[in-house]
Amino acid sequence: MLNRIPGTKDILPDEAQVWQKIEETGRKIFSSYNYREIRTPIIEQAGLFNRTLGETTEIVQKQMFLIPHAQECYALRPEGTASIARAYIENHLDKSGGFLKLYYLGPMFRLERPQKGRLRQFHHLGCEAIGSKDAQIDIEIIALAEAILLGLGIKGYTLELNTLGCAKDKKGLKELLGEKLKNKLQQLCPECIQRHERNILRILDCKNKTCQGIVSGLGIAYNHLCPDCLGHFELVKSGLDLLGIKYRINPLLVRGLDYYNRTVFEIKHPGLGSQDAIGAGGRYDRLIHELGGPDTPATGFAFGIERLLLLMDDAQAPAAGGLVYMVALGEAAKKETMRIIFDLRRQGICADMDYHARSLKASLRHASSINAKYAALIGDDELKKETVTLKNMFSGEQQEIKIKDLARILQEDTQCCARTPAGN
Ligand code: HAM
Repeated sequence: MLNRIPGTKDILPDEAQVWQKIEETGRKIFSSYNYREIRTPIIEQAGLFNRTLGETTEIVQKQMFLIPHAQECYALRPEGTASIARAYIENHLDKSGGFLKLYYLGPMFRLERPQKGRLRQFHHLGCEAIGSKDAQIDIEIIALAEAILLGLGIKGYTLELNTLGCAKDKKGLKELLGEKLKNKLQQLCPECIQRHERNILRILDCKNKTCQGIVSGLGIAYNHLCPDCLGHFELVKSGLDLLGIKYRINPLLVRGLDYYNRTVFEIKHPGLGSQDAIGAGGRYDRLIHELGGPDTPATGFAFGIERLLLLMDDAQAPAAGGLVYMVALGEAAKKETMRIIFDLRRQGICADMDYHARSLKASLRHASSINAKYAALIGDDELKKETVTLKNMFSGEQQEIKIKDLARILQEDTQCCARTPAGN
C-alpha cells in the first residue's frame, strides 16, 4: 500500500464542502473590493524564489521542493507573491493602466517538518495590490483580510502590525542589532547564532524563550526609521483607527521573507497552537524592480486555508443539502425515475437515485444518511397515476404530487428556503 506523503492531505467530500465555502467567501469579498483572479503555474524556475524570498531565508535554505531539469532547476512554488511579480513583468501588466488588484488561491509547497497547521502542501488565499505606495492600500488590504475572517465567522484573532521602513532603514536596523547583540551571541540559541551571520532580523521573532528575553531587553523601537517611513506608518495606523480595526504594534515582527519593506502584519489566533499565524502580509516596494521590472510598489497578504479551516466551528459538518433522492420500486418505475432525475438536473435541481435496489426502508435510511432533503418514491401505483410520493426527510411530512409538477414544487421550495436562512 502506498500512502500519501507526510504533510499532505486528502480533502474528503464533507471537508471539501467547507473548502468551497472558504473559496466562495474569499472570491465574493475580493470581488467586492474590485480584485480580479490571477492563476500562475505551480512550478517555476527555482531562481525566482532564491532571488525574491532571500538566499538566506529558511524557505530557500531548507524548504524548497526542487526538481532538477537538464541544466536548470525548477521548484514547486512555496508562495504566490514572487510568481505574481514575475507574471506582472512577463505579461507587461504595467501597461494595463498602472494599478492592478489581483487575488489568487491554490496549493503552495514547503518541505517543513509536518505538525498541526504545518503542512508540506498547503493552500493560500491571498491578494496583491500592485502599483501604489499609498498608505490607503495598506489599510485596504488589512481591512480586506479582516472582512474575510468576518465572512467566515472567525473571531478571537489578533492583528500584529509593524513597519520595517525602507531599504536604508532596514540596513540601519540590521547594523543596530549587530551592535547590540555583539556581546550576547553565546546566550542565543544555535539557530540564532547562525542567523546573526546570515539573516540577523530573524533573531527578533525567534520563538526560543531565552532569545526572546534577550531581544526584549534590546529596546528596539522606531529610532532607525526615516521621517517618510514613520509618516507612512502613522497614516496606516490612523486609517485603521478610522475603520475601527484593532491592532497591536509589535516592533519585533519581521516576517520570514526578505522582500518586505514598510508595513508588515500578521494575524494570529491562540486556537492554532504553536503555528498561530492564520495569515500575513505586507508591502514589497522593491521586489518587481529587483526582478527586472519597472519600479513598482506593491502590497499584499495570504491566508493559509488549512489554518482558516481549523478555526471554523462547522469545519466537519456537511452543509444541509437540497438533494432529492429518488427511490424506484420495480423495473418499470426505475426507467421512469431515470428520466425524472435527468429532467430535474437539467433544471438545476440536485437529484439522485438509489442504484442498489434496496428495500424501501433501507433506501430511506440511506437517504437520511446522505442528508437528502426529500425522498421521492415511485412504485407501480404512482406510475399508473403519473405521480410520486414526496417525503420531507426533515419533517417526515409526505404528499403525493403529479410528476409534471415536481420540478416546479422543488424550485418553489428552494426559493422559499433561500428567503428563510434556517431552511424552515
Ligand atoms: P507566509 O507568512 O509565508 O506569507 O504565508 C502566509 C500564511 O500561509 C501563513 O500565515 C500561514 O497561515 C500559511 N502557511 C505558511 N506555511 C504553511 C505551512 N507549511 N502549512 C500550512 N500553512 C502555512 C507568504 O507566503 C506571503 N507570500 C504573503 C504575502 C502576500 N505577502 C505579500 N503578499
